Amino acid sequence: MKAVKISEHVYWVGVIDWNLREFHGYSTKRGSTYNSYLIMAEKPTLVETVKAPFKDEMLERIASVIDPKDIKYIVSGHAEMDHSGSIPHMIDLIKPEKVVASTMGVKALQDHFHLTHPIIPVKDGDTLSLGNMELKFLETRMIHWPDSMFSYLAKDELLFSQDAFGMHLASSERFADEVAHDVRLEETAKYYANIILPYSSFVLKLIERWKGINLNVKFIATDHGPIWRDGGAEIIPLYEKWALQKPEKKAVIIYDTMWKSTEAMANEIAGGLIEEGVETVVLPLAASSRSDVALHVLSAGAVFIGSPTLNNNIFPSVADSLVYLKGLRPKNKIGAAFGSYGWGGEALEQLNQWMKDIGIELVSDGVKVKYVPREEDLVKCFELGRDAAARLKELV
Ligand code: FEO
Repeated sequence: MKAVKISEHVYWVGVIDWNLREFHGYSTKRGSTYNSYLIMAEKPTLVETVKAPFKDEMLERIASVIDPKDIKYIVSGHAEMDHSGSIPHMIDLIKPEKVVASTMGVKALQDHFHLTHPIIPVKDGDTLSLGNMELKFLETRMIHWPDSMFSYLAKDELLFSQDAFGMHLASSERFADEVAHDVRLEETAKYYANIILPYSSFVLKLIERWKGINLNVKFIATDHGPIWRDGGAEIIPLYEKWALQKPEKKAVIIYDTMWKSTEAMANEIAGGLIEEGVETVVLPLAASSRSDVALHVLSAGAVFIGSPTLNNNIFPSVADSLVYLKGLRPKNKIGAAFGSYGWGGEALEQLNQWMKDIGIELVSDGVKVKYVPREEDLVKCFELGRDAAARLKELV
């Protein structure tokens, strides 16, 4: 395993996790990478490490450039264990002169690893001399952890952006422009929806700041997936759009079903939306992950959620997506609930409350149907789709 040179002085020494299919609740159908970077300065510096089980692969890549024991500094931009997991081993192995992290990062690293080796805190705007070049630190709190911090290497016009601007994608390509456009768009959107969305207000502040400080950036080296080398021309406007969450003429219908009644209702709602020219995605939860739900909710102006009543409750798979969505805090959505029942039909009211708690503006009290929808029930569902489409058109 060899390092990959990505700029004049920087090598990618990370790992490709082809097998990853689940990342703390996020379904990663295309795997991921944990990116670690070696700056070949007078004081060789490692920016980020990798998940602990992959440390030997990282060391092998480093060894293809220098003896790992010649590394003088380690920089931690983010303390989550997919990036910090190998820091304790690296400290033991190379005994670095300095390990640096943001103030919150120092605390987080100590709380994770109970280290005895000192970690040096750096603040926003601080610099670290690497001898013949310099790293500048930019705190990016809450994108997406309190400790998150960018590091900027002016010499190579390269920004180490920790988790921001990343994607979960295992690939042989190291640069984003080498990956098919639809793949990188889907995976960056999915990453934003599942990881960054709750922190959108911080993203907007970061972009404002970015516009103000005029950093000379060619490379954005993220912690996951390929590296951007277009100065952010593609990913920054996407982040701005996703952070603003302006409603779009798109609807997503999320449902599960027991005996196909709720499914029939979902299909009729979709029919009404489609007839009104709204792009519509129907996600049966038996075949869709909560991460796919988040991906489509990101760009949808209207969200419909359907559940049968099971034992006086919402169906478990629907409850899973509701809990997940509530945590992601999407904004500027309208929607409605629907579902079939046999006896009490409690799920509809519960769905309505959940949707209000998520922040979705209900355009209707919803539709519920006893056992199997009759023709007039299906018409009600179709009309719900049409009415919501009309409301959505007023908003976009
Ligand atoms: Fe890739 Fe927040 O860790």
